[in-house]
Amino acid sequence: MADTTIGIIMNGASGRMGYRQHLVRSILAIRDEGGVELSDGTRVQVEPLLVGRSEAKLRDLAQRHGIEHYTTDLDAALADDRWQIYADFLVTKARSAAIKKAIAAGKAIYTEKPTAETFEDALELARLATQAGIKNGVVHDKLYLPGLLKLRRLIDSGFFGRILSVRGEFGYWVFEGDWHPSQRPSWNYRSEDGGGIVVDMFPHWNYVLENLFGTVQSVYAHVATEIPERVDEGGERYAATADDAAYGIFELAGGITAQINSSWTTRVNRDELVEFQVDGTHGSAVVGLFGCKIQPRNATPKPVWNPDLKNEIDFDSTWVEVPDTEDNVNGFRAQWEQFIRHVVEDAPHEYDFLAGARGMLLAERGLESHSTGSRVAIPEVSAEA
Ligand SMILES: NC(=O)c1ccc[n+]([C@@H]2O[C@H](COP(=O)([O-])OP(=O)(O)OC[C@H]3O[C@@H](n4cnc5c(N)ncnc54)[C@H](O)[C@@H]3O)[C@@H](O)[C@H]2O)c1
Repeated sequence: MADTTIGIIMNGASGRMGYRQHLVRSILAIRDEGGVELSDGTRVQVEPLLVGRSEAKLRDLAQRHGIEHYTTDLDAALADDRWQIYADFLVTKARSAAIKKAIAAGKAIYTEKPTAETFEDALELARLATQAGIKNGVVHDKLYLPGLLKLRRLIDSGFFGRILSVRGEFGYWVFEGDWHPSQRPSWNYRSEDGGGIVVDMFPHWNYVLENLFGTVQSVYAHVATEIPERVDEGGERYAATADDAAYGIFELAGGITAQINSSWTTRVNRDELVEFQVDGTHGSAVVGLFGCKIQPRNATPKPVWNPDLKNEIDFDSTWVEVPDTEDNVNGFRAQWEQFIRHVVEDAPHEYDFLAGARGMLLAERGLESHSTGSRVAIPEVSAEA
């Protein structure tokens, strides 16, 4: 039995991310296990209020999951003191207007990324939230993946020696929607609707890089729209105006070079949908969502380049898998629990709207790099106006 309850407005709970990751895997999983444990041993239970545009969809969701509250009236929800947290999983385009209302209503706010469609808007949200003195958080889910948690431990233990470079491969084939339905929403491929792989993925790369390796100081990116026409959810052809592949080079504070390919137009020939190889003077690692394999310098093979001889080294066998040593909960849920503790008992949660704005800044500067053909510096930003 929980000691207190916190009410959470879940706007966009019927969407892909809102439903699967935030409602089912996070809030309902927390609810069904009796809430979040606080530092003094008491528990805070979660009470979701589903918000969306279709009453029928919300009713169906509520019935299916035993949820008491749902509404299509966001303003009424924001005016009601029962709900302390506003959470936003809307399409990116609709986000900043809704978040501004939630700031004005004095709610604590937790949101999907990117926080806004432009850096200017994202920074304004960070400034408004700071001025209003409200707690605010942005999804940093990749940092909570088991593979990246193992990577953090390798870094903290000094395994790498001096880290030299990071190489990331993210992507998979997203069906065009003609002979086979697409596995992503069509708005992702229309820039006028907030789509594009740069605005989608560079915010992720920004927080992964700045939290594990160093802040991003410059970006060089080449961006492409490889598939110019796709077919939408209703079977209609549409012009894919947004970028669907991006090849980026990032210079990090401390002299580390990162290069990350992001693509919805590549076929997977690796163990996971995202993989990072980190090379250091004392060792290297390859991490994915779950896996993490390492090669220390003392076990590094010595290949010799000779095109006349077939390579005899089985490179795969020269890596050691890092074992799972603890149970990891779903990453979205882990961050939700941290944010709820932040709201209820002021526990630390550093991934705020300003971090979200830095993510959007990297996306915009990446697109600028592509259009100018030059390397673009990333300035420091502040939430003080
Ligand atoms: N953290 C991650 O790994 C990750 C992955 C995918 C998407 N996202 C982000 O999550 C957000 C939602 O993406 P999704 O894939 O779930 O999209 P989706 O299209 O499945 O869901 C979007 C939701 O917004 C609602 N909506 C659409 N237009 C609206 C409007 N004009 N006004 C109000 N509501 C509207 C829809 O009803 C739906 O509930 C996006 O910002 C996206 O960038 C994050």
